[in-house]
Amino acid sequence: MTVLEVIQRGAKYLTEKGVESPRLQAESLLAHVLRLPRLNLYLRFDREVGAADLGRVRELVQRRGRREPLQHLVGTVSFCGLELHVSPNALIPRPETELLAEAGWLFLGRQAASPRSQPGPVAVDLGTGSGCLAVTLALKCPTATLHALDLSPAALELARANAAAHGVADRIHFRQSDVFAALPPDVRAELILSNPPYIPTAEIDALEPEVRDHDPRLALDGGPDGLGVLRALAAGAAGFLAPGGRLMVEIGDGQAPAVGALLEARGWHIDRVEPDYNGHPRIVIAHRPES
Ligand SMILES: C[S@@+](CC[C@H](N)C(=O)[O-])C[C@H]1O[C@@H](n2cnc3c(N)ncnc32)[C@H](O)[C@@H]1O
Repeated sequence: MTVLEVIQRGAKYLTEKGVESPRLQAESLLAHVLRLPRLNLYLRFDREVGAADLGRVRELVQRRGRREPLQHLVGTVSFCGLELHVSPNALIPRPETELLAEAGWLFLGRQAASPRSQPGPVAVDLGTGSGCLAVTLALKCPTATLHALDLSPAALELARANAAAHGVADRIHFRQSDVFAALPPDVRAELILSNPPYIPTAEIDALEPEVRDHDPRLALDGGPDGLGVLRALAAGAAGFLAPGGRLMVEIGDGQAPAVGALLEARGWHIDRVEPDYNGHPRIVIAHRPES
């Protein structure tokens, strides 16, 4: 079978299984098996795919048809231009979280130039998962020190591996922690950022199978109203914030009014709420008026 025929058959199968962007998915899986950039397939449409590769791609297409996420099948995801390892032990980093990373590194970069942040700024990433935010911030801000916290030891293992793969493990302190419980009390961070679990428990069953059945429940479930971890974060973050510091959190679509009220009730001032790629308010940036 040729490259083109494998793609066409794969795309047809994935269409029947209700998978979104079936052709792109089939191409990505074949490119992964052939160890080629996906676009290079277009130069090889007439090439025969060998029997071993054909068997491997068939297996992956079938698994994709059973709604395993593409990223779990290929083992990596691109986040802010970095290749990160993924696994079923941590949330697959999402494109909208790149916006949180960018807001974080722009702020941290400005802090790095300030005399009071010497020898370098400090940031806390609460619920680090794959480490996508901590690793990106460490790379973008070479003088920064980070504390990456997560309740899940398996997620922390993945985050450590991603930090090591990108040469920033020596500047990130990984800690198993329920919210801020394991963060040393003398930490004063210029930036506390978090993409906490924020899906209301009752909505999880209605999510796409790729998310519902393959992202860890701990990474999704924000309790009855979705704001359980956020509430703990709003209560605990102030004690770890340096003067002039910022809190930046990703929230779910439609949660901005409730999150704004919750933060203000805890003494935070909302600087702004930034939109995601669809224009929905998703990144809340706040500070303490007294700092
Ligand atoms: C939505 S995921 C975000 C992962 C990663 N930061 C990202 O943006 O892709 C939320 C993370 O918070 C962690 N988590 C959930 N409850 C927690 C808690 N009480 N304390 C610390 N981490 C928690 C989960 O294990 C998960 O890794």
